[in-house]
Amino acid sequence: MSETTTAGATISPEQALVEQELVDTVVASFDKTEDPRLKQLVQALTRHLHNFVREVRLTEDEWNTGIEFLTAAGHITDDKRQEFILLSDVLGLSMQTIAINNQAYKGATEATVFGPFFVDDAPEIPRGGDIAGGAAGQPCWVEGTITDTSGNPVPGARIEVWEADEDGFYDVQYTDARVAGRARLFADDNGRYSFWGLTPTPYPIPHDGPVGKMLEAAGRSPVRASHLHFMVDAPGLRTLVTHIFVEGDPQIEIGDSVFGVKDSLIKRFETLAAGTPTPDGRDLGNQAWARTRFDVILAPAEA
Ligand code: BEZ
Ligand code: FE
Repeated sequence: MSETTTAGATISPEQALVEQELVDTVVASFDKTEDPRLKQLVQALTRHLHNFVREVRLTEDEWNTGIEFLTAAGHITDDKRQEFILLSDVLGLSMQTIAINNQAYKGATEATVFGPFFVDDAPEIPRGGDIAGGAAGQPCWVEGTITDTSGNPVPGARIEVWEADEDGFYDVQYTDARVAGRARLFADDNGRYSFWGLTPTPYPIPHDGPVGKMLEAAGRSPVRASHLHFMVDAPGLRTLVTHIFVEGDPQIEIGDSVFGVKDSLIKRFETLAAGTPTPDGRDLGNQAWARTRFDVILAPAEA
């Protein structure tokens, strides 16, 4: 019997025809979709899913395992835990979507993954305030400016910051409703901002569910490189969702579990001995502290 290659597999021409006819029939079943974008999405999805199944010659057992995996992801998902976003993150799909939608523009700060731990109504702090709210960790002074790509300061830019404590947990992962390690602040008239945060440490993404099992089966670590999240927005400018990473963190070399690291976002965190005077005169007693600088450049909204 002669053979033909389809979607990476070698099969008979008759079999290839059967498979292709099914793809064509399913794609055509969406022909009357009124919304043209929805039509494009669902037809392309159909083609790619069928190509995947055909390329790997998916067995029925494997198909069942896939359904069980997605079912488990659904069962563990609630208003605090989003296993499907985690799945997207560890497959690099979140970062690919961000890359497509936040294209480089004249030196604007790069975006990275949002993650599941942002909370919309974080407490507002004044310039130089403390976001820790009791979260454990080494105090870290963070300062910088918010400008547009022409170098103009962006007074009043809204800055949301959030991070895990030194045990690797965000406040929302505790059951006691604490609010810690997050705040909202605004840039001053010269576009400057500063706050006390915590020196970021590496932590694992939630890995007690199906996505964790998948990582384990693949011999992949769930650990994220140490980071501090930012979301910055101002009228007329593209909202930036990003993090800064800690220069020298070994996890950067080992690999970030959600592929979020970009070289431009790796910042120097200087460690200062206990007793070193702080920028705002805060007395930290016998505690060492750190400092870093992150100057944010926002692209125009329409870029
Ligand atoms: C985070 O950085 O908070 C995060 C990002 C992706 C998945 C899980 C956590
Ligand atoms: Fe995070």
